[in-house]
Amino acid sequence: MEGKKPLDGRIRIQGSKNAALPILAACMLIPGKCVLRGCPDITDIECMFNLLKSTGAAVNIVSAGAEAVEIDTRSVREHRLPERYVSAMRSSVIMMGAMLGRLGEVCVNYPGGCVIGDRPIDLHLYGLEKLGAQIWIEGNHIHAYADELRGAVIDFAFPSVGATQNVILAAVTAQGTTVIKNAAKEPEIIELCRFLNTAGARIDYAGTLLKTGRIVIQGVELSRLRGIEYDIISDRIVAGTYLFAALAAGGEVALENVPIRQLDSICDTIRGMGAALTVDADRNEMTIDACDRDRIVNVPYIETEVYPDFPTDLQSPLLVAACMARGRLAVREKIFSSRFRIVEELRRMGADIEVKGDTALVTGGRELEGRTVIARELRGGAALVIAGLCASGITTVADSGYIRRGYQDIVGDFTALGARISYIG
Ligand code: UD1
Repeated sequence: MEGKKPLDGRIRIQGSKNAALPILAACMLIPGKCVLRGCPDITDIECMFNLLKSTGAAVNIVSAGAEAVEIDTRSVREHRLPERYVSAMRSSVIMMGAMLGRLGEVCVNYPGGCVIGDRPIDLHLYGLEKLGAQIWIEGNHIHAYADELRGAVIDFAFPSVGATQNVILAAVTAQGTTVIKNAAKEPEIIELCRFLNTAGARIDYAGTLLKTGRIVIQGVELSRLRGIEYDIISDRIVAGTYLFAALAAGGEVALENVPIRQLDSICDTIRGMGAALTVDADRNEMTIDACDRDRIVNVPYIETEVYPDFPTDLQSPLLVAACMARGRLAVREKIFSSRFRIVEELRRMGADIEVKGDTALVTGGRELEGRTVIARELRGGAALVIAGLCASGITTVADSGYIRRGYQDIVGDFTALGARISYIG
């Protein structure tokens, strides 16, 4: 890409990766046919399709890309998940809860995913064991077995998104009542509950989750669950990425199909940094105006936190925007231990960023220069593309395959916004 050109135009936000993945795992639990509309066409979703197929499910793309997909799990029988797909993606671990509920048995290897720090699965295993699963580990393989899952009180030491999803999936058909305390409150948890309830589950989250962090699940018979059609919500992290791209590169960008209510903390940050945001809630549209560069300044401090606070997944795009704003910003990463891997690459482009423990100190207002940089994970990769759009000269982002895990067409989107960018190789 050749940078230093403000963005200008309108794009539509894709369906949410982090909502679609657990819903696809939930399809596994439902002995029937589900149709999901708005599934993003990205490699993590492709990986989940492959996991489903490996169990015996049929996955049919009904319309272009993965826009509408039909999942038929009536002939599911295989409880062992293939290592090549499990290792490729951390989310594969949430298949455990669904498969325990459906088949009473599952065997997986330790999951993979982006290298952004320690990503243990102790909370997942704790939750499933509390529901009565017997779990044993042989080398790199985890076996879980349950004659019968029984409702329990599960009190998470940390509100892990994936562990909450795993327990919800296993508890839907467990005997009796499950109470999850200190559950994750991310919108993707609510979407999973809504999907499952529409399919016949009995999950109470509406009144309790956001206030008290509690989810209560009354187990139902597996045969009570039925296939449904469902629309996947749009991706708050992709929307946030493009907002930070406009904040960093300048210009005026309109986003369609935006999950506006999920973006409060992001909008606060963007407004705090001097850009103007116009929101049309009826049409799910948002416009950012970052044309007046004199107004773009850093706020002093931001920390990543669980929802509804600032999301860790947007910490890298924020760093790039901070490089392009006047003044200093300290960013504390509280969720993942090594999520500053792009700092080295940004520094090579001329950024002034110092990392001290879990905090990065950015001094903005330095010119970035185009370089060949290496993407090492999904969100950091997207942030390097944003940096390239801000830099003078040509930037090449190598290993951009990581970005395809979560962004349907980042090059097409930025091209639509007037950027000079293309895929090579
Ligand atoms: C999900 C999202 C990811 C996002 C993250 C935090 C998906 C597919 N991924 O990841 O994009 O960045 O939420 O919002 O939805 N932890 C443990 N033990 C466990 C599980 C987690 O210690 O058993 C720790 C992790 O190491 C990490 C923190 O908890 O430090 C957050 O992890 P978690 O909420 O589980 O994130 P994921 O579900 O992996």
